[in-house]
Amino acid sequence: MRWLSPPNRREIALILFCATVFTFAYNLQHSLRYIGLEALVTRHVEFSPSGLNHIEKDGRKSPRYRDQLDDLIIGNYEWKDGEVLNANLDPGQALGVGRHSAMWVGKQEQDRLWPSTGEPGVSAGFWRWNTNVPRTKLVKHVPGYTILDQVIAFKGVVYIVTDNPDTFPDAESMTTDNWTGISSEDALTLLGRYGGVIHGVSWMCTEHVPQNTTLLSLWSIYSSLKIESGEDSLPPPARLILPRTSVFEDSDKINDEKKPNLARRLRSSTGFHPFLAKVVFPHMGIMYKEDWADFQEMEVPYVIQRLVIADYQVSGPNGLSELLLKAASSSRNWWEPIRQRLASFLQERGDELDRKAVTYVYRHGALSGQAHESLVQALAQMGNDRGVDLFLVEAADGDRKNNMQWGERMAAVVRSNVLISVQGPDVLNGLFLEPSPQTTIVEIFSPDTASREHESIAKALGIKYIAWSNNHQLSSKEISYMEQTQEQGYDVPVDTGTVVDAIWRTLQR
Ligand SMILES: *[C@@H]1O[C@H](CO)[C@@H](O)[C@H](O)[C@H]1NC(C)=O
Ligand SMILES: *[C@@H]1O[C@H](CO)[C@@H](O)[C@H](O)[C@H]1NC(C)=O
Repeated sequence: MRWLSPPNRREIALILFCATVFTFAYNLQHSLRYIGLEALVTRHVEFSPSGLNHIEKDGRKSPRYRDQLDDLIIGNYEWKDGEVLNANLDPGQALGVGRHSAMWVGKQEQDRLWPSTGEPGVSAGFWRWNTNVPRTKLVKHVPGYTILDQVIAFKGVVYIVTDNPDTFPDAESMTTDNWTGISSEDALTLLGRYGGVIHGVSWMCTEHVPQNTTLLSLWSIYSSLKIESGEDSLPPPARLILPRTSVFEDSDKINDEKKPNLARRLRSSTGFHPFLAKVVFPHMGIMYKEDWADFQEMEVPYVIQRLVIADYQVSGPNGLSELLLKAASSSRNWWEPIRQRLASFLQERGDELDRKAVTYVYRHGALSGQAHESLVQALAQMGNDRGVDLFLVEAADGDRKNNMQWGERMAAVVRSNVLISVQGPDVLNGLFLEPSPQTTIVEIFSPDTASREHESIAKALGIKYIAWSNNHQLSSKEISYMEQTQEQGYDVPVDTGTVVDAIWRTLQR
């Protein structure tokens, strides 16, 4: 074989083999990554004695191979994934400093000035889910009170999207409103592939006329989430939706031009005083039937992120007391955040706090003839003789008309230990009494009438409760015997001497 004879097949094969091995080995790191062994290469290269240094994602060598020159040129800082720039690296520059007198705000300062609030942006109001229709999640339920995530409102109906309807309670045990379950397949056909999103926590009361216990019941079920999840604070409700309550109490009248209707229209009751909502949840908007209808009339479904629903028509008084007692059994202080918020708005903390105080919420015509006068006198006498502060405050129907009196009344209540009132919704002012071992609600019933409704509310709040009828405290047995629905009392007789004695006894306990 001559020196210059063309290579035979064996030699060509050898050359090709060597070239392949060389190429592979020369680019070992990339080669291994190419065949999916990146983890191996990282570990391998770092410990390899060959001195091949691993390069980190930020372009620097891994720390153990870095030297002073690297630190000088690139810097020795911590760099987190997802961060464009390490916040410490750019402290910003004040005005008038530097060659060009340029001024800018450093990253840290920026974060302080414009903290990211986590609020959804404008684009978050739209959701294209394509074929993956949002599914509803049941968070909590007792009859009449429910928490759901991702329910969908569309053309007058609220849909619960689920492929496991057995895991949800019947719609009738949640609300009397037009709600229905739907499978995800049907939902895709009916609702389409996109919709709007109503972010945050929405409260909803689906009664036509919300009960005076609306805030109490909604807070009771909603705050139970905090206890269960152990979260420090719950996001406040962003809105209260009243899908069946018009903005105004009266029906729309067509104003005759010659006889304009000058009477001020009254807003419908939300179940609590409008000022109370502004004090406790200043960030909560109220959405009445008309606003709700706007959503329904759109041709797009709306996904409600979290909905807390109360419907007293479903729960009834027993359901409500059950709910409240459940809240009380899982936490003693479940109502305190609300009461304290109100108290801190109304109360000037002073020395007089050591004195006991009694509030009598009166209503014209509630107590009979002389009974009111003589009760006021007897209470005033007790106040004088025994150093008890007495507050006489008037209950006005439709608090919405008498806004000014509300503050006065609640300021008295939040610093009182005892509240006296004739049967009816005025007793609910007692929710805001200052908690103490003496705290008591006294409800004066008409003869042969009694109800446990307020007793169970008082119990859930850890407040003592006295049902009074004329000259004696009603026993449990008597209440059961006479139980009737809670109505406003009129012309109720009361033996003032005995009731004031009873109040003094509770104050001494
Ligand atoms: C509930 O909504 C459906 C669908 O729009 C409608 O056909 C039905 O009459 C509604 N029912 C009530 C009680 O409003
Ligand atoms: C709520 O209380 C007011 C009196 O403060 C009363 O007139 C009204 O009927 C009550 N509402 C309900 C639904 O019971």
